[in-house]
Amino acid sequence: MNTNLRPDSMTRISTPELAEAFIAEKIAEVRAQVGDKKVLLALSGGVDSSVVAALLLKAIGKQLICVHVNHGLMRKNESEAVIELFRNQLDANLIYIDATDRFLNLLANVADPERKRKIIGEEFINVFADEARKLDGVSFLAQGTIYPDILESVKQGEGKKAVKSHHNVGGLPDDLAEKFQLVEPLKFLFKDEVRVVGRTLGLPSSMVDRQPFPGPGLGVRCLGAITRDRLHALREADAILREEFDNSGLAKTVWQYFIAIPDIKSVGVKDESRYEGWPAIIRAVNTKDAMTATIEEIPYAVLHKITNRIVTEVAGINRVLYDLTPKPTGTIEWE
Ligand code: XMP
Repeated sequence: MNTNLRPDSMTRISTPELAEAFIAEKIAEVRAQVGDKKVLLALSGGVDSSVVAALLLKAIGKQLICVHVNHGLMRKNESEAVIELFRNQLDANLIYIDATDRFLNLLANVADPERKRKIIGEEFINVFADEARKLDGVSFLAQGTIYPDILESVKQGEGKKAVKSHHNVGGLPDDLAEKFQLVEPLKFLFKDEVRVVGRTLGLPSSMVDRQPFPGPGLGVRCLGAITRDRLHALREADAILREEFDNSGLAKTVWQYFIAIPDIKSVGVKDESRYEGWPAIIRAVNTKDAMTATIEEIPYAVLHKITNRIVTEVAGINRVLYDLTPKPTGTIEWE
């Protein structure tokens, strides 16, 4: 039997009651698996790793050590929210590593999207591995692997050419891979089931219902070679977009929405003087599986408000554009 395939008999977890039963079963399994040993978890703050963290906290409490690596490419206040929820509210063991300089120094002058992804993925492993080597007595590594990740890796094994390399975390270095046994309590769940489990565990909607965010983060939205000033402008403009999507209710109906900023400047005018700035590009799409995507209609009043706020509040941006391209031909991300 292939232990990586979801058993046919497994019920779809669609209700809090089914989630309760799943949680109880996993708590017992994890306790039996790890005994009194420690478990390490890379906690990005995405839905999957957050749900694993909440589940393991219930199962083994302080035996869980969460490591949150800030690669400097997070959205505004994202790392702060992870610390607030897991360390302050849920009392988790959480190690916070601000690795912004490590990442941005490596990425300086690198314009090729796949090279950027590779650098971010590899450096993530390096930072995490450096931390893991400092910790004593850890025998297990927990991961927020979910069923589509398993299906995707099976597909890649069949030799299909990927459009983009979607790896967040590749393999760990040999010394660590040999040291750790994996704990993957969500590996047979689809995303909607992970959300039901997360909600049942008491995680807030801001964590459980959040839109997908790529592992390389704002790194693939600050197009071309990343500079700190353009990255800052991107983070601020993105925060405004998200705030206005929350205010207008669009956040509930649009699957993924964000700002991308290309590495070009155009001439503009501000306070009666020439003002060269970057354009902020709005992307807002709906999709079922991210393989194809349609464009979401944003009411003009909302577009106007977002545009006004971005060009007045964010230094360095002098235009706002709305990308109307479905997938195909445009991928959801610009890089
Ligand atoms: P594309 O741009 O390929 O994106 O249409 C499809 C979905 O995947 C997300 N995406 C990524 N996720 N690492 C990730 O974890 C990546 O490198 C990456 N690139 C794209 C994208 O945000 C969309 O939801």
